[in-house]
Amino acid sequence: MPEKPVINWGLEGVYVNESSICKVDGQNGKLWYRGYKIEDLAKYSNFEEVSYLLLYGKLPTKENLEKFQEKLRSRRDIPDEVLAVIKTMSKRAHPMDVLRTVTSMLSMYDNQVMTRDMALNEDKIITLIAKLSSLTAAIGRIRKGYDYIEPDEKLDHAQNFLYMLHGKKPNDSDRKIIDLMFILHAEHSTNASTFASLVTASTLADVYSSVISGISTLKGPLHGGADEAALKMMYAIGEPDNTEKYILEALDGKQRIMGFGHRVYKVYDPRAKIVREYLEKRLQEKPTEEVRKLLQIALRAEKLMIEKLGNTKGIWPNIDFFAGPLYRSVDIEAELFTPIFVSSRISGWGSHILEYWQNNKLFRPLEWYMGKLDLQYIPIEKRTE
Ligand code: ACO
Repeated sequence: MPEKPVINWGLEGVYVNESSICKVDGQNGKLWYRGYKIEDLAKYSNFEEVSYLLLYGKLPTKENLEKFQEKLRSRRDIPDEVLAVIKTMSKRAHPMDVLRTVTSMLSMYDNQVMTRDMALNEDKIITLIAKLSSLTAAIGRIRKGYDYIEPDEKLDHAQNFLYMLHGKKPNDSDRKIIDLMFILHAEHSTNASTFASLVTASTLADVYSSVISGISTLKGPLHGGADEAALKMMYAIGEPDNTEKYILEALDGKQRIMGFGHRVYKVYDPRAKIVREYLEKRLQEKPTEEVRKLLQIALRAEKLMIEKLGNTKGIWPNIDFFAGPLYRSVDIEAELFTPIFVSSRISGWGSHILEYWQNNKLFRPLEWYMGKLDLQYIPIEKRTE
């Protein structure tokens, strides 16, 4: 019997590819997209430019950005049959399930789904960047019983998303919050959902199938679904004065506190710092009772968690912790947080899929078999419990 190998559960500590898209420095809490610091991109850039940067590896010239934006603006429409499915499903299903289903439908409007022409595949990703946020907005609106709103080509990506969701052109401050969240969520190296999309891509399945693997994987509360779960926890806490009791009881009961901890960051997630900063600014600019209370709960939970687990176990707030209160300040409901994450992360997934295909190798890890061998087959009538 060969010696049992070391098993890296959850692929912890295992390198699976080379990439020049994104660097996460988990020990120092730093993040770069294509070499640019996340703080600079959050402050000076916008989602369209960041998507271009991720896809093409460099910041666009003014002319290239305009051409890229033009492509995005002209592809935001939703096919009628897809809209009909959203109308049928939205009121009874979780938006992530509807989004996964209708993203899958988009492949049926493409007659070259399985192409190996990388220019065509790149174009499909641009189409998905344009359409996923339209789909998310349509799902969010229709599930509330409102009419679908057509995209508006005059608006930029973040403005159009809010317009299609809320039915009115957003002010600059609301626009910036959505644009910021789109930038911060756009990419994060080969994490669970990117890896899932690469596993599918590595079989030479198509762009849509690969992206759907990413969507399915992002849904889980240990990954992208943590933003919705974190806000729901804050609602369950209810009042700021309940925070410490709630968190301590949850920890005693060995529960995870959503929005804390990360496989790579063992210090404060740099994106969480940016979200927290915007949330504090936002509250001064547009104070509401709900967001004020959520921020108080969040800050008290953060303080306690850092005291309890920050320095001892390296468990700090991640991007999903302060995201919920910030989204609430733009009147977005919890069930739409992860679909918004998808609408942004498509740029990262797409960039990774194209990069991986340049040097494709089928993913096929090994497992250590723990079961029996060579058992005797017993006919069913002779079997006992
Ligand atoms: N709350 C309480 N304890 C925690 C938390 C948490 N959020 N996260 C980790 N721990 C504890 C674990 O219980 C474990 O304790 P033990 O050593 O006493 O058994 C220890 O820290 C290590 O936990 P692991 O699960 O082994 O660490 P891993 O690196 O696999 O976990 C993960 C990372 C899954 C993100 C984890 O921190 C977690 O569950 N967080 C909550 C969910 C969350 O916020 N996910 C979003 C991450 S960001 C993103 O994906 C966009």
